[in-house]
Amino acid sequence: MSSAVDSEQAPVPSHVPANLVLEFDAYRPMKGEKSYHEAFYREMADGAPDIFWSPYNGGHWIITKRKYLQEAFADYDRFTSEEGAAVDGIQPPGRPKFVPIESDPPMQQVYRKLFSPAFIAPALKEQEKVGRALAIELIEAFKPKGACEFVTEFAQHLPIKIFMKMVDVPEEDRLTLLPLAGAMVADEKMSKNEAALQITKYAGELIAERMRNPGDDLISKIATSEIEGRPIEMHEAVGVTTLLLIGGLDTVASMMGHLMNFLASSPDHRKQLIDDPSLIPGATEEFLRRFALTNPARTVKRDIEFHGVGMRKGDKVMLSTPFGALDTEDYPDPMTVDYARKSNAKTTFGAGPHVCPGSMLARVEIKILLEEWLSRIPDFEVDPADMPRIRTGVNGSFEYLPLVWRA
Ligand code: HEM
Repeated sequence: MSSAVDSEQAPVPSHVPANLVLEFDAYRPMKGEKSYHEAFYREMADGAPDIFWSPYNGGHWIITKRKYLQEAFADYDRFTSEEGAAVDGIQPPGRPKFVPIESDPPMQQVYRKLFSPAFIAPALKEQEKVGRALAIELIEAFKPKGACEFVTEFAQHLPIKIFMKMVDVPEEDRLTLLPLAGAMVADEKMSKNEAALQITKYAGELIAERMRNPGDDLISKIATSEIEGRPIEMHEAVGVTTLLLIGGLDTVASMMGHLMNFLASSPDHRKQLIDDPSLIPGATEEFLRRFALTNPARTVKRDIEFHGVGMRKGDKVMLSTPFGALDTEDYPDPMTVDYARKSNAKTTFGAGPHVCPGSMLARVEIKILLEEWLSRIPDFEVDPADMPRIRTGVNGSFEYLPLVWRA
């Protein structure tokens, strides 16, 4: 659903040449296409420039070429994250900065160190154990029914349960957090800001409690850490914690929705993985490429020329990862899912100092899904009597995916 205000086009600034303006709204890209990614691909196939201006969501540049995207992700000297991580990512009064994503190096690196040890391979072993046990439990519970709504009955459980365990938060809190995390990456600005305030309130209460009674979990570590020799401040701890909550809750579930929708309609791709599970790591990389789904942003720091395009200080630039993933220069026949492709997910997780710290965890969760689902429910399809629903915005996600199989 789009709000009237958001759908309005902003006046095109005078430094933007008319031939670079394209009526494409990345937060609401679908104009009758069957899938979210088809909408981006159609734009590329219709000749979208490597960098163009979209008049939607306040007006902003969109980079479509993957290698330029990678360059901009890493270039914090010209493209800052200090002014928000989404093109319309305004910071409402009272909400702390979401660090590190809304900061630049060197402080960005300082904030990142508060949680990065929790996301490296040795620490992930425990998450994998928790995740696998839960995946088996969930699948075995709905398998005899011959049907499930994949998003709410599976995709939203796995990443959340793993994350709740890392931060030692009661499982029932997922009912509070899920709708907020979803609203944060959807397309309506008002609900986004309101959700941000509510989620920071939740994080604030958690931090205050862990400051008083620290445990062994990630939030306690953040709450009691030092930043450059001084105790972390409340707004910093709340910013980091909120970002971790948002990052971990929606993205993986969204990725799972896209790939299961695909597998539901491609028996051949399912069969390849069932016949030879050693293909799963390669398939995971290819799914991560093909279904890249986030549209983060930067702000231009000073007047610059970027690959022949004049950008002004203050211009917003969307780093649209679905475009990068479908760039024919890097990926011939990009809409085709080919498990044998190499170096697939080059920009799905961003690049440079902000590159997603959760990427290994996301890979583990997707591997668990593929292994445990396909060995139990090898044949399934989207319910022909029902209709999946996609929610677009900063992330393009399935919000409803009815699957059926013979029980
Ligand atoms: C398939 C799943 C995921 C995708 C597609 C994804 C995508 C991304 C992208 C593109 C960025 C870079 C944003 C930028 O440069 O502005 C990013 C950053 C980030 N992601 Fe992920 N992510 C995923 C999973 C996760 C998970 C599981 C977590 C953690 C629980 C997480 C936490 C974060 C954090 C904290 C940042 C900010 C890092 C920084 O600013 O230094 N993400 N993610």
